[in-house]
Amino acid sequence: MASPNIETIVSLAKRRGFVFPSSEIYGGLGSAWDYGPLGVELCNNVKQAWWRWMVYERDDIEGLDSSIILNRMVWKYSGHEDTFSDPLRECRECNSRFRADKLEDEQSEASAAEQRKTEPNFRALVPRGAWFSAGKIKCPNCGKVNWTDEKPFNLMFQTHVGATAEDDESSLVYLRPETAQGIFINFANVLTTSRRKLPFGVAQIGKSFRNEVTPGNFIFRTREFEQMEMEYFVKPGEDEQAHQEWIDACHNWFTSLGISASNLRLYEQPKEELAHYAKRTVDIQYRFFPERDEDERQWDELMGIANRTDFDLRTHSKKPEDAEGKRLNPDSTEDLSYFDEANKERFYPYVIEPAAGVNRSVLAILMDAYSEKTNNKGETRVILKLHPSLAPIKVAILPLAKNKSEIVALAKSIKRSLQPSLRAVYDDTGGIGKLYARQDEIGTPFCVTVDHQSLEDEAVTVRDRDTWEQERVKVSDLQEHLLNRLKT
Ligand code: GAP
Repeated sequence: MASPNIETIVSLAKRRGFVFPSSEIYGGLGSAWDYGPLGVELCNNVKQAWWRWMVYERDDIEGLDSSIILNRMVWKYSGHEDTFSDPLRECRECNSRFRADKLEDEQSEASAAEQRKTEPNFRALVPRGAWFSAGKIKCPNCGKVNWTDEKPFNLMFQTHVGATAEDDESSLVYLRPETAQGIFINFANVLTTSRRKLPFGVAQIGKSFRNEVTPGNFIFRTREFEQMEMEYFVKPGEDEQAHQEWIDACHNWFTSLGISASNLRLYEQPKEELAHYAKRTVDIQYRFFPERDEDERQWDELMGIANRTDFDLRTHSKKPEDAEGKRLNPDSTEDLSYFDEANKERFYPYVIEPAAGVNRSVLAILMDAYSEKTNNKGETRVILKLHPSLAPIKVAILPLAKNKSEIVALAKSIKRSLQPSLRAVYDDTGGIGKLYARQDEIGTPFCVTVDHQSLEDEAVTVRDRDTWEQERVKVSDLQEHLLNRLKT
């Protein structure tokens, strides 16, 4: 089973120290979350798994860590200054502002479901804004129907660099809304220093910022989040096959981390949804909203895999000219084209971009790992069946009698001997049943119990999180035993 809804995970995450509402002692800050002791471990494990898979296990990918604040020209030529916006409507009665397309989707859903029965594609046939024009969309805040016209709201956070006045246009900069542009502007640097030939990719993990009009659903949509992006540069003409290979590889990566294939699906973005740079984009969607009646509304984007063509390298290059011979980018000092030695030809590589969110991945992983089991007393226990490589803690060492100093000493020495190779904790703050339940709920794959007999036979009991089966293992074999079982 998976979590029945996001709320179940919100409550578990706060109770056990995965995720806390940010700035809570001052009343919080809309859609900002802090990752607690277990949350930071889980995020780090997801990022390490991605980096290992993307960079270390392949021969054709380099890593990069570019600045969050870039020259404003990057966002001018990438198209973000002009087009990176959401459609906004304001309620004239209470001045609340909403993302118009989402509001229309939500409130038209009941009639949409009816109409879909006879016309499956009807959503594409009804023009955006039709429900607003028909006076059918109510303000979620005050319930009135009195809207301003729709206008674009740019999602980039602005700030100023240096000790300049707030209104000094020349000091205006943005917090990056995607990590990708840092890769494109470093294309020539990475190419020359790594002496790569096409096809090759550059991977980056880092924070991005978007002033979302309506963030929400816990860590699903926030204004500050982390992305794991890779730009894979290929020869034009080889882009379509590479794109399909990355779609399949990314889907397999999520299932290799234990996410059930039945909770993942591929979504082909229709033409009208494609970003200005994309030739084709396929999203991997996760069933983030299983509680919704209509299957179609249960899914939302976990990651996107786009074919960005040569748009980015071309737009940041000084060379391309318009029909009158005028440079399209008079501000760039570099040409980001590629010279193919074998065929003696120069061109702008196409780019395939697998782009995932760390936080959305963490949410999907938590939801999918959630399960419940009834013990022999008829009590329901939560088990977080995290893939061992992602589990924040790999093993908990539990003394059966905390008032027996030899048992405590042995348990602590076992913990110390394991911790250089495994994330291990020692816990004696409750009865054994309670300690097991706590570790099950945070996804610890193994508990090791030290008891009276351990003092005589130098063996301990290893308990499996998922089956609750126990086996006796010699202390001298314990590390190897655990490392072997964690590999599976
Ligand atoms: N460079 C392409 C790009 O940024 P995107 O689909 O806008 O594409 C990629 O973002 C991924 O980043 C999304 O699939 C999602 O996982 C994550 N993401 C985007 N906006 C987010 C937000 N406001 N909160 C949390 N994650 C977000």
